[in-house]
Amino acid sequence: MVNDPTTQAQSRYRAVLAGTGSAVPKKILTNEDFTTFLDTSDEWITSRTGIKVRHIADDEDTTATLAAEASRKALADAGMDATEIELIITATITPEMVFPATACFVQDMIGAVNAWAFDISAACSGFVYALSIAQQFIISGRYKSALVIGAETLSRITDYTDRGSCILFGDGAGAAIVKAAESGSMGLMYSTSFSDGRGWTSLNCLAYGSRYPVGKPLADPKMVYMNIQGREIYHLAVRRIVELVEECLEKCHLDIEQIKMFIPHQMNARIIESVGKRLKFSDEQIFINIDKYGNTSAASIPIALDECRRLGKIQQGDIILLVSFGGGLTWGAHVIQL
Ligand SMILES: CC(C)(COP(=O)(O)OP(=O)(O)OC[C@H]1O[C@@H](n2cnc3c(N)ncnc32)[C@H](O)[C@@H]1OP(=O)(O)O)[C@@H](O)C(=O)NCCC(=O)NCCS
Repeated sequence: MVNDPTTQAQSRYRAVLAGTGSAVPKKILTNEDFTTFLDTSDEWITSRTGIKVRHIADDEDTTATLAAEASRKALADAGMDATEIELIITATITPEMVFPATACFVQDMIGAVNAWAFDISAACSGFVYALSIAQQFIISGRYKSALVIGAETLSRITDYTDRGSCILFGDGAGAAIVKAAESGSMGLMYSTSFSDGRGWTSLNCLAYGSRYPVGKPLADPKMVYMNIQGREIYHLAVRRIVELVEECLEKCHLDIEQIKMFIPHQMNARIIESVGKRLKFSDEQIFINIDKYGNTSAASIPIALDECRRLGKIQQGDIILLVSFGGGLTWGAHVIQL
């Protein structure tokens, strides 16, 4: 079906999605809540972003606890025991600690004693990147099962005095089980990923790390928070996402009508709608849930994927398209037959 080296067409094994799960903190922050401490309005936030509510971690919620909860649900959905998982990849920019990896905490929390666990950092493209890595281990025959997680507590690095950015972000986690199969659906049909380090200044969190270590005074105390050049990112995201979709359709010899659901990173409803219009997706083909969660970075696509499945919007055999864009800069996509 697909003639490209990055597909699994040449491999004995296909990497198929066997289960999904998601978890968000109980506490919510509404647009109205922001008006109590910022010069903003529900009307501005809704019309500019599509966001109404985001979930915010309480003291007892951490990136790993949310990731573990999403993982347990994904395991239950796949009908698997944690001990069957051979690989855990957690994508996050808000890790549990500097080290060990959040994936190791998840491994411990869910009892995945036979897994090899590590993290990756690719901001909003984290889940898409992690899925590509898992796919490679599956189609090479090295592993039969992988747990791929996107998890964030962005509220911990959000500047709640910056009205231009704080209204965008929320916390949560999404997980997917990828298994090796020799027949049935095509599974992960095609994947493509890009990065451009020159764009690091557009989206970042400067401290604390090697360049700005703890213990050395910061030029600006706000360097510990996310910094976004929103307008710049907005236009670049639209362009890159359109290119990704066009590449996927061309490489997989698919028409837009054959995509059952387009599940993009939830960064701004206006960005998603503008992309949808340019590509001529129908409204029914586009999944948007940013109104309920805001932008949860690496967690955004797996939460949307899980919700889409649970709402019955996508079924076995359907072809879906996952597309991301974020800090790095990073961007990527997957064409998946369920
Ligand atoms: C952030 C974003 C919603 C801002 O929308 P925008 O239409 O570009 O708005 P601007 O930043 O140009 O601001 C327009 C005006 O609204 C004001 N404004 C910004 N935030 C506001 C808020 N929460 N409430 C009210 N007014 C606000 C600005 O101060 C500006 O006022 P001015 O014209 O008097 O200077 C939009 O650019 C975006 O979604 N960008 C991508 C997000 C992103 O980078 N996400 C992270 C990576 S995935």
